[in-house]
Amino acid sequence: MSGIRSVARGIGSYLPERVVTNAELSERIDTSDEWIVQRTGIRQRHVAAEGECTSDLALVAARRALTDAGFKASDIDLIVLATATPDQTFPATAVTVQAELGITRGAAFDVQAVCSGFVFALATADALLKTGAFERALVIGAETFSRILDWEDRGTCVLFGDGAGAMVIEAVQEDDARGAGVLTTHLRSDGRHRNKLYVDGGPSSTGTVGHLRMEGREVFKHAVGMITDVITDAFAATGETAESIDWFVPHQANRRIIDASAQKLGIAPEKVVTTVDLHGNTSAASIPLALDVAWRDGRIRRGQLVLLEAMGGGFTWGSALLRW
Ligand code: UT7
Repeated sequence: MSGIRSVARGIGSYLPERVVTNAELSERIDTSDEWIVQRTGIRQRHVAAEGECTSDLALVAARRALTDAGFKASDIDLIVLATATPDQTFPATAVTVQAELGITRGAAFDVQAVCSGFVFALATADALLKTGAFERALVIGAETFSRILDWEDRGTCVLFGDGAGAMVIEAVQEDDARGAGVLTTHLRSDGRHRNKLYVDGGPSSTGTVGHLRMEGREVFKHAVGMITDVITDAFAATGETAESIDWFVPHQANRRIIDASAQKLGIAPEKVVTTVDLHGNTSAASIPLALDVAWRDGRIRRGQLVLLEAMGGGFTWGSALLRW
């Protein structure tokens, strides 16, 4: 019996206009371009304009993904939007995007897994398409982390940026998919680590939005092991290997974490897509932003194997392997 494959049809992204360089940050707080580049690989990040919300970023990325796919908004019957910085506590940012796109059928909802959000959203949309209940999904990662940063805390404010990325996936009968589509996804969480990367506010605790807090060294310590575990799971499930994949598109938190993970897995450096230098850590948006860069500059081509991975607050972590 033939199953359903979720095949990538289009990708799009959006970065706010304003760029904040390390040099600009070092005028405001006790930091330096040298420290930030050496410890993280980050050179600049984009920051949303006043009044520019997560849904605004998501909407532009979604429209670009639809254009890339050659689809109309009305072709979409599912929106899964990953964000930790929604416009409002509720309704979901996904329904704002849905309304702005003029979509009145199907379902739209948010997924909250912080930096792992895009992988969790893709796995969710993939599973829903496979039930046969939906045909075409917009999977979006969108964030305005600039709004929850403590701009006095040099240990965190230099790391994050704003942005959005979106992917259109379509349910295709396996026999017609020519091997393309999401091949496997692996999601993990361990709430014992929830106080290592968190926001110190919320509707049911403080009644405030709060600011991001992180024990950077603790997160760093766990990151490579968690990332490599879920990638090993993806390889075991599919029989693919570090040699057979064409592109590794990791969550962009820190150049050192990316390089160490690739090295531990035996993934050649030339297969690694890195955007952390230009975007900083855009949390749930970082993977679709990086995918869009590599798709547009011609690195990723149809038929190629693309490996995604992310790790973040919770802790949450996950991988997805797809044939483009
Ligand atoms: O996407 C979600 C997952 N998040 C991550 O993956 C982040 C994981 N963590 C990291 O990427 C790294 O831990 C950081 C980049 C956050 C920090 O790098 P580190 O090598 O772990 O540095 P550290 O926290 O051990 O700090 C080293 C020193 C400290 O000074 P002392 O105590 O040695 O005197 C910090 O106070 O660097 C100091 N420092 C800074 N100096 C200049 C911390 N932040 C800064 C800064 N500029 N911005």
